Amino acid sequence: MFKAVRDSKHVNIMKLRHTTPHDIPFLLETEKRFARLGFVHSDDIVTHQQQMRDPDYAYYTVQERENPAGYVILRGLTSADRSLELKRIVIAEPGHGVGTQVLRAVIDKAFCEFHAHRLWLDVFEDNHRARHVYRSLGFVEETTPSKFFQNGDRQRLLIVMSMQESKHRQKMPLRLRREI
Ligand SMILES: CC(C)(COP(=O)(O)OP(=O)(O)OC[C@H]1O[C@@H](n2cnc3c(N)ncnc32)[C@H](O)[C@@H]1OP(=O)(O)O)[C@@H](O)C(=O)NCCC(=O)NCCS
Repeated sequence: MFKAVRDSKHVNIMKLRHTTPHDIPFLLETEKRFARLGFVHSDDIVTHQQQMRDPDYAYYTVQERENPAGYVILRGLTSADRSLELKRIVIAEPGHGVGTQVLRAVIDKAFCEFHAHRLWLDVFEDNHRARHVYRSLGFVEETTPSKFFQNGDRQRLLIVMSMQESKHRQKMPLRLRREI
């Protein structure tokens, strides 16, 4: 559980919980909305249902009071090299500080719960808000050649960003570092 500041007047309690089949309509609707704006890819319901059953994936819903406020998909839980991918993050109402708080919780989960060595993601070059948030939390752009994604007659660059376990440890309080 973690807190998120929605605006300067309201402080809401946010929770990251496992996604259930009841969350799928919200997930599909939110995903389609941001896919239409070109921020994320989208998948059909069957793909999501299969992935939710796959031990390599973890689906989380961001819960704000009674309502879902976003979702996160992680992939690579069974990867031998413990390289975890933040496959997708979508916040239904961006720009209120929720994404930053959710990402902090995701980073902690990746390194403390899943014992990842590396957490990575790819982001469209022109998704300036997402790139800003990732950078502010310590993700760095990798020098590996970025991929182009063909979208109709438009080519868009996908940038790989990552965080290493060592970087996360440096940011942890000394007391917690000793406990790991
Ligand atoms: C990316 C996303 C998860 C971030 O979550 P969020 O709740 O919007 O993020 P926050 O409100 O915590 O922080 C936004 C930050 O971006 C900054 N920002 C907003 N628009 C920006 C822009 N066009 N360029 C650069 N920075 C921008 C804000 O100032 C804020 O930074 P600050 O905290 O240093 O002031 C969310 O916007 C989202 O779901 N977007 C749609 C889907 C998406 O793009 N997913 C990521 C795909 S890789």
